[in-house]
Amino acid sequence: MVDIETDVLIVGTGPAGSATAALLSSYGIANMVVNRYRWLSNTPRAHITNQRTMEVLRDLGPEVEAEAVMHASPQELMGENVFCESLAGEEIGRMTSWGMHPLSKAEHLLSSPSLMNDLPQTFMEPILFKTACSRGTQARMSTEYVSHVQDADGVTTTCRDRLTGKDFTVRSKFLVGADGGNSLVAEHLGLPFEGKMGVGGSMNILFRADLSKYVAHRPSVLYWVMQPGADVGGIGMGLVRMVRPWNEWLIVWGYDINQPPPVVTPELATDVARQLVGDPELEIELLGANTWTVNNCFATEMQKGRVFIMGDAAHRHPPSNGLGSNTSIQDGFNLAWKLAKVVKGQAGLGLLDSYTVERAPIARQIVTRANQSIGEFGPIFAALGMDGGVDHVKIQKNMEARCDATAAAEAQREALRQAIAFKKYEFDAHGVEMNQRYASDAVVTDGQPQPAFEKDRELHYAPTTWPGARLPHVWVFERSGRKVSTLDLCGHGEFTILTGIGGEAWVKAAEEVGAELGLPIRTHVIGPRRAVEDHTGDWARASEIRDAGCLLVRPDHHVAWRSETLAADPAAELRRVLTSVLAR
Ligand code: FDA
Repeated sequence: MVDIETDVLIVGTGPAGSATAALLSSYGIANMVVNRYRWLSNTPRAHITNQRTMEVLRDLGPEVEAEAVMHASPQELMGENVFCESLAGEEIGRMTSWGMHPLSKAEHLLSSPSLMNDLPQTFMEPILFKTACSRGTQARMSTEYVSHVQDADGVTTTCRDRLTGKDFTVRSKFLVGADGGNSLVAEHLGLPFEGKMGVGGSMNILFRADLSKYVAHRPSVLYWVMQPGADVGGIGMGLVRMVRPWNEWLIVWGYDINQPPPVVTPELATDVARQLVGDPELEIELLGANTWTVNNCFATEMQKGRVFIMGDAAHRHPPSNGLGSNTSIQDGFNLAWKLAKVVKGQAGLGLLDSYTVERAPIARQIVTRANQSIGEFGPIFAALGMDGGVDHVKIQKNMEARCDATAAAEAQREALRQAIAFKKYEFDAHGVEMNQRYASDAVVTDGQPQPAFEKDRELHYAPTTWPGARLPHVWVFERSGRKVSTLDLCGHGEFTILTGIGGEAWVKAAEEVGAELGLPIRTHVIGPRRAVEDHTGDWARASEIRDAGCLLVRPDHHVAWRSETLAADPAAELRRVLTSVLAR
């Protein structure tokens, strides 16, 4: 017997699960989330919130984006990435990061209507969860996923109420496993994974202490501490991580994964904090401490039938590059509209197959990138003669040697500068964050080749309207004078047609084909004296189509299809493309 029915059951209220629930509720789809704990994340793991994630929040509504911005530390406080002996000790080098170098800042400003920021997970999750619940999500806390069985029409899931110990069943059309790095849903599905879990060991120490005197003059989210043992386990180096400026902190310090994890007693936590801050008298208010393992593992398939996995359930990697929560939320942005279209009967089940095809390559990419970033600390240690050694005397000698007026010291200084600059692949990899392009049946290229990346694709975002790419952002203007992003014209769970003067036939075609398919299609004609104007000409330069051409944009802002010029029969073209994208 089934106790509860819903359209989509989501396991987990982390960034992935809460975002998916918020999106589904915004799209009018009945959904339910369960979380085995009584509340959301109680430790601030993820912080770095990239522009693409902020665009998802913006799509949920300006009030959702505004609330995130209100709670976040702004980008201005993120960028002076410091490498030092300790916070109180000698500074070894610095790298302007997270879009704060003026050249990078320009790229950020040109790429998105939203700015990157630093939002602890303890703030992000409540924003997403509240948005979900206030829009209709049924949430059951202290409720554990136990097992599921699926058939041709749906999924029956057994859950356990942890307060009463009683099991109950939920019948849903679809099940989403957003249940984190130890995902039981993924395990029960038997999905294929590549890579290895537990490749390094790390401890987190969360504490309060006013460290302003060490950091306020060089505002950053990350202070990297190079001390003997700093390259063991962990995330490449010892880290003092700002949680709230400048009185709440998270220390990340590695341990050898081949040894049993240390018991992080208050005494050990205080000792490590004093050592990394470089103040033997430091008093900390310890908020929590735990150990965790560094993983290098990703699913090569993220779905089986009517069951999907997302977030850390699918990609398990260290926090390097700050991609975990971001990618988790973006998985939700990819899947939620597809589920909504299928539940509403506007798309065939085949549309859902594009989820794995589009997101599994991203899972592979970000897991690989994050793990590679750990290794890329190596040249910094090498330049300082610190690789693999705990010999304090030797290390001190090498640190001092770099200050000499000798050719060898000059070479050492240059090696250090280069090694630090190379860390832009971790701390300023705008391309990794923004260049996601999809190739699947939910995109129709009509054989148009993908434009090449002219600059390093990990570092620089390359805007294009090539089908599969995210719609480029530029500012355009409504007749009222209000400035809006091209992304604001799209999204919100629906397909959108963007065209220009001479392209009015696309608008008519959208009405006709939309009515036929029972699918609302939004349309915008951009041009002088039209509802949206392109005073700056930025849209004309970015659109890569003629005025009478058109772009069909998916609900997740990715271009589904484009026509450079007006087609002979626009309705026939739109019908061909939409029936293909929607697997009708
Ligand atoms: P997450 O683990 O957050 O949530 C899983 C959910 O499932 C929880 O609600 C849990 O209770 C629930 N659950 C699990 N099993 C269940 C069951 N059987 N039944 C019911 N519920 C169940 N990322 C980033 O983008 N930027 C950053 O700066 C950082 N920094 C960072 C620092 C540190 C130290 C760490 C350890 C991690 C990061 N991350 C990060 C990574 C980020 O924290 C991580 O990727 C996200 O939390 C993943 O979100 P998910 O929603 O996928 O899983």
